[in-house]
Amino acid sequence: MKRVFSAVRPSGELQLGNYLGAIKQWVEMQDEYDCIFAIADYHAITTEYDPKTFQQKVKDHMLFYLASGIDPQKCTLFIQSQNSNHTELAWILDTITTVSELQRMTQFKDKSQKEKVISAGLFNYPVLMAADILIYQTDVVPVGEDQKQHVEIAADIAKRFNHRYGEVFKIPEVKLVKETARIMSLTDPTKKMSKTGEDRSRINLSDADDVIMKKIMSAVTDSGKEIEYVEDKPAISNLLRIYSAYSGEPIEQIVAKFEGKGYADFKNSLAEVIIKKIGPIREKKIELEKDEELYKKTIFEGLEKAEIISRETLEKAKKAAGLI
Ligand code: AMP
Ligand code: TRP
Repeated sequence: MKRVFSAVRPSGELQLGNYLGAIKQWVEMQDEYDCIFAIADYHAITTEYDPKTFQQKVKDHMLFYLASGIDPQKCTLFIQSQNSNHTELAWILDTITTVSELQRMTQFKDKSQKEKVISAGLFNYPVLMAADILIYQTDVVPVGEDQKQHVEIAADIAKRFNHRYGEVFKIPEVKLVKETARIMSLTDPTKKMSKTGEDRSRINLSDADDVIMKKIMSAVTDSGKEIEYVEDKPAISNLLRIYSAYSGEPIEQIVAKFEGKGYADFKNSLAEVIIKKIGPIREKKIELEKDEELYKKTIFEGLEKAEIISRETLEKAKKAAGLI
């Protein structure tokens, strides 16, 4: 069975882009693949964060995984920082990664412009991510478009290690879903929807139905009146992709359905389609919160499995590199 690994940073609130770009794919893959999903808390602390609310964020993210349909009976779920094998491997990989290739990373360039202080952790972020992936002998990494470059550098690092020290790592491949790999902001269709943008630019998985309705109704649109899937209508095209991903209807069919109708009709229907899917996830998450043991049990059992697999690869890598 092929192995899948992916993770989300517990920063901000899970938003619709995370769901459509990553988590929805995970749910669909769990029957066919051996899936391992983590909460990347060590990645989240590479930019400013609040230590006081951090544990709650980590827990909320995990419960949203479960509420979205990730089944701990089928998948391995754990918290990245609780498995120190990752950081141990990351150090070894750091020694075969060059400063110039890390300087080329788009996310580093973007984030370092926004941060007051640029930490070495932010710079080395892709190496830890490579360790996350390679330590599980991962075949496939389902993520959104913004993480593609990081999966590619992980593959480069794996090839370099294998070439220098002998075959240890599988070479991972990225998996994107074209239409939903880059969901754009509701207030600016030239920017991607993100956890850190202003609240009305995104739909959070925790948003109440009326909040979703309000945000969709006030989402920016393009000039003209037609609902069309064309390049010079980036705002409407983004909304059409979201509509299609949530309803399962092909984009052409949605365009045909709204022919001759205005933006208000379309947006109203879109909000309903989103609410129909997000509402139950939000409610399920609230229900799961009541079960005190569930979270602890899930991450404890997941960690046990993750440690066994990752320890084996770490030892192989250390042996190959002459460390044991
Ligand atoms: P992050 O919130 O940056 O930790 O991202 C977690 C996962 O969600 C990664 O696989 C991202 O690529 C994906 N993701 C984040 N924002 C978007 C977006 N706007 N559209 C599609 N995928 C996204
Ligand atoms: N860096 C990823 C993000 O921002 C999260 C992540 C950490 C990840 N480790 C990973 C994703 C390994 C895929 C595989 O979304």
